[in-house]
Amino acid sequence: MNRGGILKVQFTETVLRDANQSLIATRMSFDEFEPILAELDKAGYYSLECWGGATFDSCLRYLNEDPWERLRKIRKACPNTKLQMLLRGQNLLGYKHYPDDVVRAFVRKSVENGIDIIRIFDALNDLRNIEVAVDETLKCGAHPSGTICYTLSPIHNLENYVQLAKDMEKMGVMSICIKDMAGIMSPQEAYDLVKAIKAAVKLPVVVHTHSTTGLGALTLQKAVEAGADVIDTAISCFSGGTSQPPTETLVYALGQQGYEIDVKMDSLKKINDFFKPVRAKALESGLLNPVVLATDTDALLYQVPGGMLSNLVAQLTAAGKLDKFEEVLLEVPRVRKDLGYPPLVTPLSQMVGVQATSNVLNGERYKNISKEIKNYFFGFYGKAPGEVNKELAEKILGGETPVTCRFADTLEPYFEKAKAEIGAKAKSDEDVLSYIAFPTQAEAFFDKRDEKAKNTYKYTIREA
Ligand code: CO
Repeated sequence: MNRGGILKVQFTETVLRDANQSLIATRMSFDEFEPILAELDKAGYYSLECWGGATFDSCLRYLNEDPWERLRKIRKACPNTKLQMLLRGQNLLGYKHYPDDVVRAFVRKSVENGIDIIRIFDALNDLRNIEVAVDETLKCGAHPSGTICYTLSPIHNLENYVQLAKDMEKMGVMSICIKDMAGIMSPQEAYDLVKAIKAAVKLPVVVHTHSTTGLGALTLQKAVEAGADVIDTAISCFSGGTSQPPTETLVYALGQQGYEIDVKMDSLKKINDFFKPVRAKALESGLLNPVVLATDTDALLYQVPGGMLSNLVAQLTAAGKLDKFEEVLLEVPRVRKDLGYPPLVTPLSQMVGVQATSNVLNGERYKNISKEIKNYFFGFYGKAPGEVNKELAEKILGGETPVTCRFADTLEPYFEKAKAEIGAKAKSDEDVLSYIAFPTQAEAFFDKRDEKAKNTYKYTIREA
């Protein structure tokens, strides 16, 4: 950002969400990070990414925490810093499409409970799948950040990324985020892309990457040189590997280059000192595996995310066919091509990986076709970025017509129905939304909560 000749860059801290998710499967509980929230609030960050993604599921499933209560408590402890969440457009926090009434209610409640910025993306970059979430975020007076999933393929180029940014600007988003979930965006690619987007739209540009392949910090530096306004980083002891590049390192390097930076180094030192024992404990318990902290350049070689490579190894090992690894790796890009080059982000990365494995192990391509791949061809995920394989489409569709409209338009409203379904177990509309997002986990959580309340009551009676 250039303000009267002074260059400025701002920082989004990811330790509470993406770093937590990428390194320790989102197992950091609220109590664990609660004591440092006041310092995080004082540090001068552009925003704290603290909710959405897997935090919601992890709270209910593993941490016995109400995700909404977590958000309210963070809000209370951090009154001065913008709180940010990650939202998968029409899929909210999961992989299936929800009807619009649910998406709107979820966005509204997120803002009411404390969220300022909602980073909204769709796995296929199908903007029809983010428009309702963007619209509702604006209606609630919050900041929708329109997000581009970055990928490499013969059909993805600067022009269509710029077009996505322009379309999102028209939609009303207040910033554009480039999301490189696999850590494969090179410094030069970041530089060119940020330059092109900055030239085409008037909005601030945010860059998100991962350190997986070792490119992360270089990529962020070049992105800033190209005019990126905000970068995502993680406090150093929760940075690197599959997490983000380190906050302090980027502050140090960019500060020397003359960028104006609001984040205060003394705060960062306190924050890092606080998280060091948290990391040490996670390493000791095995929750943090040193493997995820290492640099893995294979993703650059194969152009597939590191997480996908390890999934393939696991699948093939389980089938006793690890000798087929190279063959499967060659099949992955072919399956991706047949699907019209979807970005290899969850769930597409798993879908492509499983299908490629099945094609190789069966000795025949598409002898078995997964239900998910079938749904993809039926248009349940949105529009494929490029042309899909026509023969394969015919084989799957068998004369039926795929959905070409926005998939959510085919769905009936669900919020009130879900509210009736869960009944008295839900104490609020927030509870109903937890139930809609993760039915089994939410119900189990509500039961445990009721049990606890009953015991507290008994105890109170006895005391009296
Ligand atoms: Co990420």
